[in-house]
Amino acid sequence: MADKIRVLLTEEEVDARIGEIAAQISKDYEGQEIHLICILKGGVFFTCELAKRLSVPVTMDFMSVSSYGGGTESSGIVKLVKDLDESLEGKHVLIVEDIIDSGRTLAYLIEVLKQRQPADIRLCTLLDKPERRVKKQVKVDYVCFTIPDEFVVGYGLDYDQKYRNLPYIGVVEQEREDN
Ligand code: PRP
Repeated sequence: MADKIRVLLTEEEVDARIGEIAAQISKDYEGQEIHLICILKGGVFFTCELAKRLSVPVTMDFMSVSSYGGGTESSGIVKLVKDLDESLEGKHVLIVEDIIDSGRTLAYLIEVLKQRQPADIRLCTLLDKPERRVKKQVKVDYVCFTIPDEFVVGYGLDYDQKYRNLPYIGVVEQEREDN
């Protein structure tokens, strides 16, 4: 069974925008080192593409949290699945997400990470769905694209664990019976 996927943002559009955001971040952090925190699994493609384009020194770490529990709606409960390997003390932390929806994941992460004495914490996301925000206090420093409330896949985002590897952002429209 194949799903029909409508292209929302092409690979070229995504790549170009990541280049712009990377240039902005490199300028803002000039003279500093960025400690990138990739939020698995969805954030991995964006984190790599962003990291490759940054001109300031970068270190990286990975964290896994779960909030959706298998469905498409956030449960409101965030679970820490894999913690960071490195200390955050004195570091300029940049959290990298694929999408911010309700904001529950980031609200939780910021609370947890700010207790670890970083120099500062900023947030960067590939996609933002502000219409869905529940945690209004979450302020995002860098947003590549603001999108409407549609179910998107690709560039790290999944539908039932599929489509993370699509090089563009698409909307799953319907299921077909053919292969
Ligand atoms: C997605 C996404 C964010 C979170 C955003 O992760 O990567 O971490 O949901 O939703 P929120 O703003 O409503 O909290 P998901 O839990 O689907 O895990 P995955 O990245 O492994 O697919």
